[in-house]
Amino acid sequence: MKVLIAGGAGYIGSTIASACSDAGIIPVILDSLVTGRREFAAGREFYEGDIADGPLVNRIFAEHPDIGAVIHCAALIVVPDSVADPVGYYRANVVKSLEFVAHLLRNRCERFIFSSSASIYGAGADLTVDENSPIDPQSPYARTKAVCEAMFADIAATQPIRVLSLRYFNPIGADPKMRTGLQLAKPTHALGKMMQAQEQGTPFQVTGTDYPTRDGTGIRDYVHVWDLAAAHVAALGRFDTLLAPAGTSAVINLGTGTGTTVRELLDTFNSVVSPPVQAQDAARRPGDIAGAYTRIDRAKRLLDWQPQYGIVESIRHSVEWASIRDQVLS
Ligand SMILES: NC(=O)c1ccc[n+]([C@@H]2O[C@H](COP(=O)([O-])OP(=O)(O)OC[C@H]3O[C@@H](n4cnc5c(N)ncnc54)[C@H](O)[C@@H]3O)[C@@H](O)[C@H]2O)c1
Repeated sequence: MKVLIAGGAGYIGSTIASACSDAGIIPVILDSLVTGRREFAAGREFYEGDIADGPLVNRIFAEHPDIGAVIHCAALIVVPDSVADPVGYYRANVVKSLEFVAHLLRNRCERFIFSSSASIYGAGADLTVDENSPIDPQSPYARTKAVCEAMFADIAATQPIRVLSLRYFNPIGADPKMRTGLQLAKPTHALGKMMQAQEQGTPFQVTGTDYPTRDGTGIRDYVHVWDLAAAHVAALGRFDTLLAPAGTSAVINLGTGTGTTVRELLDTFNSVVSPPVQAQDAARRPGDIAGAYTRIDRAKRLLDWQPQYGIVESIRHSVEWASIRDQVLS
């Protein structure tokens, strides 16, 4: 079987491509390279272009009639940019996704997996969420994901396509074989900031120490990107059982089931690197939230999946990837 991966030259999509390939599923990549990297598509069936480009999508299906499913990872993902340019974000993430699905329907694609995000959830009182928790996106980016989910569910209700939305928590790490990883030199998530602080020998700013968490710092559910990719392979294998009747859609959270605070992340980071990074307490950043982690019962039950990597390996793989990234990305 072949799988079309839109956004397959990006961080998560390229990892999914490797996991599919290792499992004997041939990935076909469609990516505009707006943020993705040509190097991540090297050696693969690769189409450079936009998901909204109908003739291109037609050509991909004509040249690969054995594509059995589509994984849609193509999106713009920077929250502050989405606040500054909501029109651009709704166009990129919602309008183009709608066009893409129309192209897929025309090409009789029946299996569709959508990269959704934990950022669509409202904050729960006990800091945990599951798939039934209230949806309350806090940024234009997060809202584009919630809108897409709802739009795809409406389409799946009456059109011959079934949709599985996978809500990712906080992906970190890299392909354990170091084929791909985060393409950015300066990631803005907490682990990225710790790595920069370590490189520069400066303290790491703990932004927000008065959240209602066990140590006052923000809490996240850091999931290894390879585990995320493995969940997609599991979803492809079980798709027809999971979404048996036509007219169905489903959502599944993908996280570890464990919350890690910023201080805990820093302690673990310091157990992996040398010299350690000092912490410096600082005020909350506007827009930041206490955070949440997921209950993973549904992923276990429906996908027979659970994460294989803990936080130590996730950090180790991120650090290892950062040390070779400039050689891999010319
Ligand atoms: N990274 C995270 O923390 C995170 C968390 C939850 C969900 N997600 C979702 O996972 C998906 C992948 O994210 P990522 O971290 O790999 O980001 P990324 O920027 O590395 O990958 C996105 C890829 O999509 C491509 N792309 C964007 N718009 C396109 C278009 N119109 N046509 C063709 N290609 C296009 C980009 O070039 C890039 O290769 C996104 O949908 C994102 O919303 C990411």
